[in-house]
Amino acid sequence: MTSWGNVYDIIIEPSPTARRWVSRSIYETDLGAAFCGDSLKVLRSKRLQRHKGEVQLVFTSPPFPLITRKKYGNVRGEEYIEWFAQFAPLLGDLVADTGSIVIEMGNAWESGRPVMSTLVLRALLRFLEEGGLNLCQEFVWYNPARLPSPAQWVNVERIRVKDAFTRIWWMSRSDRPKADNRRVLRAYSQSMKRLIQTGKYNAGRRPSEHTIGENSFKVNNNGAIPPNVLNGDEAPSLSSLLKGTNTHSYDQYQLFSRAKNIPLHPARMPPELVEFFLRFLTEERDLVLDPFAGSNTTGAVAEKLGRRWISCEANWEYASSSIARFPPSLITRTCKDLTLEKTDHAASSASSVFTPLFTS
Ligand SMILES: C[S@@+](CC[C@H](N)C(=O)[O-])C[C@H]1O[C@@H](n2cnc3c(N)ncnc32)[C@H](O)[C@@H]1O
Repeated sequence: MTSWGNVYDIIIEPSPTARRWVSRSIYETDLGAAFCGDSLKVLRSKRLQRHKGEVQLVFTSPPFPLITRKKYGNVRGEEYIEWFAQFAPLLGDLVADTGSIVIEMGNAWESGRPVMSTLVLRALLRFLEEGGLNLCQEFVWYNPARLPSPAQWVNVERIRVKDAFTRIWWMSRSDRPKADNRRVLRAYSQSMKRLIQTGKYNAGRRPSEHTIGENSFKVNNNGAIPPNVLNGDEAPSLSSLLKGTNTHSYDQYQLFSRAKNIPLHPARMPPELVEFFLRFLTEERDLVLDPFAGSNTTGAVAEKLGRRWISCEANWEYASSSIARFPPSLITRTCKDLTLEKTDHAASSASSVFTPLFTS
């Protein structure tokens, strides 16, 4: 297990050569490897092609077709549909016959108009077609804490309500990709617990025309089957796992980036969302791939859950700083532009601007 007795610093070269390497990782653990580069190139590289037909889950949040450019850059308009479609056959080939591709995408609006763009839907449909994939199920990630947007129509003119969900498409090559909802059961509600305990409820025909049997709700199945509208309550296991250890937390990434004055990734995915799909669609040792990894939330959650992982991110700052999501003792290799340095707690070197993160 992880040894937390030591203090580490992470030294990131500001102008790396690493970004030109597409077939060598920038850091690795026993379970995974992070790449920095254009994923079109990385996915085509020999190193990735070795895993053809082996990836159990592609889980990713690609750059959205936004109206305005985000800091990490994104293709816009019709060009986006073409750009995104190129990934479908590439990812489809990497995925196992029983594997899945799960893509999260937010909504887009027409520039200067209070109407939604259909670009996201068209991009997803085109992706399905190009990859010859099935749409297994659509999910909605509901985020009530999202800031009201688009601001002009929601806050200023008050003619729209706030956009508070992103769409998640679960796609697969076969009709029956590996999946098991028993791995993502939710805690029963109090009323359901009472019902199971007392066994008292009204069986029979409901106005919805469903017939509820005498014993339908008497069996304790260890939890309720989650709906396809997710909101962060789906993965209590990970938060309790993290609370139960003081060795590492997802916050380490934020602490690190702030201490080093590296911009935080502006579109980090909630770890709970990643955990839900990794548990639902993969088992231990399965291979998970994120071709638009950003701060590598996917890799970090995969590591925690004992899944193998590969991530790829084009931006060097995001890719390199994502190493802070991993306990240093798990890092087995880094490229020369990214060094893990053991420092003496008491006599931290003058060059180390970074307050030690990984302390016991
Ligand atoms: C929505 S963000 C992903 C955020 C990530 N899920 C996280 O939790 O941090 C999309 C990322 O894709 C990266 N990206 C855009 N085009 C890329 C490309 N061609 N190859 C690799 N990464 C790319 C962007 O730099 C950005 O960090």
